[in-house]
Amino acid sequence: MIEQKIRLDGKVAFITAGANGIGAGAAINIARFGGDVAIADIDVKRGEHVAEAIRALGRRALFIETNVFDTAQIEHAVARTAEHFGRLDILVNNAGGTRRKPFVDQPERSWRRVIDLNFVSMLAATQSAAKAMISSGNGGTIINIASSEGLRAAPGYAVYAACKAGMVSFTRTMALELAEHGIRVHVLAPDMIDTEGLRAVSAIASAEENAARDRYIPLQRVGEVDEIADVIVFLASGMASYLTGVMIPVDGGTIASSGWTRTEASGDWSLYNR
Ligand SMILES: NC(=O)c1ccc[n+]([C@@H]2O[C@H](COP(=O)([O-])OP(=O)(O)OC[C@H]3O[C@@H](n4cnc5c(N)ncnc54)[C@H](O)[C@@H]3O)[C@@H](O)[C@H]2O)c1
Repeated sequence: MIEQKIRLDGKVAFITAGANGIGAGAAINIARFGGDVAIADIDVKRGEHVAEAIRALGRRALFIETNVFDTAQIEHAVARTAEHFGRLDILVNNAGGTRRKPFVDQPERSWRRVIDLNFVSMLAATQSAAKAMISSGNGGTIINIASSEGLRAAPGYAVYAACKAGMVSFTRTMALELAEHGIRVHVLAPDMIDTEGLRAVSAIASAEENAARDRYIPLQRVGEVDEIADVIVFLASGMASYLTGVMIPVDGGTIASSGWTRTEASGDWSLYNR
């Protein structure tokens, strides 16, 4: 049946930072479509809560307390997932985030942490998961959560943006290196998605910036976690069997608009935001 192609029955997913926000949305949506899920996160309470929600959907779930700053913990979590479920089919590299600060004012310790959280964690999880997928012989899907900031300049977010741009490049190379093993690799570039992470950044943006947000987004609203999670399910499913190495901006049209926004007075599109 054609409808079965979107189903993830029998597949096992591993998600970094899956206790909250986009990661939790991805975990629950994968379960809704039939997959079993392991969540690696530092937040035990919320991680166990997401695992419970997945079990309530009739799927198997495993929460593994993991600090992604420690690559050994990531490797251990991936290995435990493959052992517990007997396979690994989907990796979602979701861990990431940053604080706003001009680069010249950012201490080395701080920017190294941004690289470890956003980029190094992806390298470690990809290497471990790809090895497990290759040895299973079942192929798999790796989905990296980058950002629209990786596709444009991002004042105040220089190192974060560079990491996200690196994720796009890494995705394309992995798509080629892993193609012969039937492993498809993709990257999503969300812009503004309603999560605690976004709310923390917005809280330090000016009131003027926050008010201008909906005029800046062509679809005129911030995105929902489920709108990222649906794309993740699609990419992991048989519906996307001939896609690899793709970058999808799940952003309400902001990357397409590339600087065009609606003016406050008339609502007309303008490049200069009069
Ligand atoms: N929300 C957005 O608007 C947006 C936009 C673009 C890209 N993104 C990207 O999406 C991803 C998820 O963002 P979000 O907004 O859902 O985040 P969030 O802040 O809502 O959730 C972050 C999760 O990461 C976990 N975490 C934090 N530090 C950790 C650590 N050291 N080890 C393990 N887990 C840790 C937290 O416990 C939490 O569960 C990030 O990579 C982010 O860069 C988000």
